[in-house]
Amino acid sequence: MQTSENYTPGYTQNASDFMAKRSAQTHAAFLLPHLRDSSRLLDCGCGPGSVTCDFARIVRSGHVTGIDREASQIERARSHAASLGLTNATFEVGSIYELPFPDASFDVVFAHAVFEHLSVPDAALAEVRRVLAPGGQVALRSPDWGGFIVAPDTPGLQSAIGRYTELQIANGGDVHVGRKFPGLLRSAGFTSLAFSATYECYQPPPVIGEYLALQLAAADARAEAAALRNWSRHPDAIFAQAWCEIVGREPRTSLEN
Ligand SMILES: C[S@@+](CC[C@H](N)C(=O)[O-])C[C@H]1O[C@@H](n2cnc3c(N)ncnc32)[C@H](O)[C@@H]1O
Repeated sequence: MQTSENYTPGYTQNASDFMAKRSAQTHAAFLLPHLRDSSRLLDCGCGPGSVTCDFARIVRSGHVTGIDREASQIERARSHAASLGLTNATFEVGSIYELPFPDASFDVVFAHAVFEHLSVPDAALAEVRRVLAPGGQVALRSPDWGGFIVAPDTPGLQSAIGRYTELQIANGGDVHVGRKFPGLLRSAGFTSLAFSATYECYQPPPVIGEYLALQLAAADARAEAAALRNWSRHPDAIFAQAWCEIVGREPRTSLEN
């Protein structure tokens, strides 16, 4: 499927390292109670695979598959899995819009920090539903920029955040996709929806400051990038990001849980 998206964070070392610090415990706690030893789990847009590899250690007699549209991220995920000696994790290049798997291949499909970058989320969810076994579960987690707490309000901070928001929208993304998860899943035919939200507080603030500033600079928003870096060095800087989370069920038949 052809889409007009342009993935905003890009694949710099900084962006990939930023994702690789994530774990299932820190970023997918809402899904862990739903996993079984034998789950077949698909992680869509797995990036460098740190969360995916944690899942592989949890579903010990099951299997995890990570897909990402970007080959460099799949290579990094494979190396990470090999360094951990995992034998139940595989990774493939692929798009969430055209998943390279037969119908009903997975018990759980997860996507973390992906849907805010998709211009046609309903098409992605139709594909997710196709590869889920009857009664299987979909689990999504994405930020909602309406929930940020960023302080103190240093010069240029608001326009830098505004510029980043414009950039992500221009790239085909949706900075408010988190709040839309219930409607998106319901429209896609999922049931038993369980919505939650959590905050992530970035420490130290220059970590998120540099991550966003590099993307702004790459888009020629140099003044805004400088303003973000300046904010991040303030001794009282805080950046609390709201993550929206949802678990839904493929409705055809129920699996025991
Ligand atoms: C923000 S990163 C998140 C990576 C990982 N899930 C995590 O949270 O650490 C988003 C990832 O989704 C991938 N992605 C974006 N659009 C995609 C698509 N249409 N199909 C598959 N992967 C996609 C990007 O290449 C990127 O690696």
